[in-house]
Amino acid sequence: MIGQADNKGMESPDSPLMQHITALIRETGPLTFARFMELALYDEEHGYYMTGGGSSRTTSPIGREGGDFFTAPSLSPILAKCLVRQLEEIDERLGHPPVFHLVEMGPGDGTLLRDILQECREQQASFLPRLACIPVERSPVFRRRQQETLAGWKEQGEGIQWVDDLQSIVDASLTGTLLSNELVDAFPVHRVRMGQDGLQELYVTSRDHALQERWAEPSTPELASFLSDLDVELPVGFTTEINLEAVKWIKQVARVLDRGVVITIDYGHTAQDYFAPERKNGTLMGYHRHTVSTNPYTRVGEQDLTAHVNFSSLAHTGEQAGLTTTGFTNLQHFLMSLGIDELVKGWDQESAVVRAAARLLRPHGMGTTFKVLMQHKGIVVSTLRGLRHRPFFDAVLATA
Ligand SMILES: C[S@@+](CC[C@H](N)C(=O)[O-])C[C@H]1O[C@@H](n2cnc3c(N)ncnc32)[C@H](O)[C@@H]1O
Repeated sequence: MIGQADNKGMESPDSPLMQHITALIRETGPLTFARFMELALYDEEHGYYMTGGGSSRTTSPIGREGGDFFTAPSLSPILAKCLVRQLEEIDERLGHPPVFHLVEMGPGDGTLLRDILQECREQQASFLPRLACIPVERSPVFRRRQQETLAGWKEQGEGIQWVDDLQSIVDASLTGTLLSNELVDAFPVHRVRMGQDGLQELYVTSRDHALQERWAEPSTPELASFLSDLDVELPVGFTTEINLEAVKWIKQVARVLDRGVVITIDYGHTAQDYFAPERKNGTLMGYHRHTVSTNPYTRVGEQDLTAHVNFSSLAHTGEQAGLTTTGFTNLQHFLMSLGIDELVKGWDQESAVVRAAARLLRPHGMGTTFKVLMQHKGIVVSTLRGLRHRPFFDAVLATA
């Protein structure tokens, strides 16, 4: 996601969601920050993603026109084109299975999946007739958007079957690829800081209808275990986010995959960089109309909230759950490895599409802030084409 800084912050009016949150605090006491973020984003009736980007919104929050943020697929179809090359190789390594599953988790408007299908058709990808697409989407509003975007593709290959979550998928039933772009950064996170007497967690409470923060004992021992599993000792005063949902999610991914590859694209860092001094205040951010805010308590339910992804945690938990880490790179090197330069060669170099594609490569922007983690299970691979160029050594995902 990209946008400009705006921390002025407008106090949230007493919206139905704020009334619901303050009533809940009155009934049950302070909420962990993770529970607050879960309500702000995923409250069934008023959460940001459940209403399709805020209750007052009529258009998608993703993209330029009236949106809150851009994502790589909303900027350019080039990511889809490169991914099709990677899928071809995975299909080959799997020995061209009778059904090739492509699961996209958190597909937003469905743009990436549509562009992948389009590219498969243009390139006559050999797996297209065997392709079974499974979009996994929690929000009914986004599910409807995806169904509209993919309306013309429902009869293609083995068809498209939506599910609400990975729980609905039978264990070890998938052969193919599980893909996500900017899913994990949208999971609710716990906020913690190292106090003089040990780890503390941030809670949200309310006073006179205004939300307030309070630091107290961690709500679960899983927070300290998360850090010790990564060999991290936070210095006193260091504040950060812990994404326990991501840990649960990668275990589910490992459970449903029989044979294939997991491709996770998102902005984030290795543990070493996540807990580096320059991130001593954490990575939590809000996005509204392409402006960035560090105040999560403004426009509650009307702004997106997000935290950077800890890729070492995904790799480490994945290993414990049966996924082998294939490799880790950044978006720039991933796209270069998959031949982005050949793909754009025939295009008008002055055109908007080429400028948008170049944006994904920017060394001081998306090209380096976005990372790509590839993990595999049930196949023997030492590397994959998308990992040919890597700005990191193999041990980079090792614990801090
Ligand atoms: C930031 S958007 C990214 C959309 C899209 N992948 C893109 O790059 O444009 C996050 C998406 O993940 C969905 N989502 C969030 N949590 C989810 C979950 N636990 N299971 C499935 N989808 C989820 C949201 O509803 C939304 O569609």
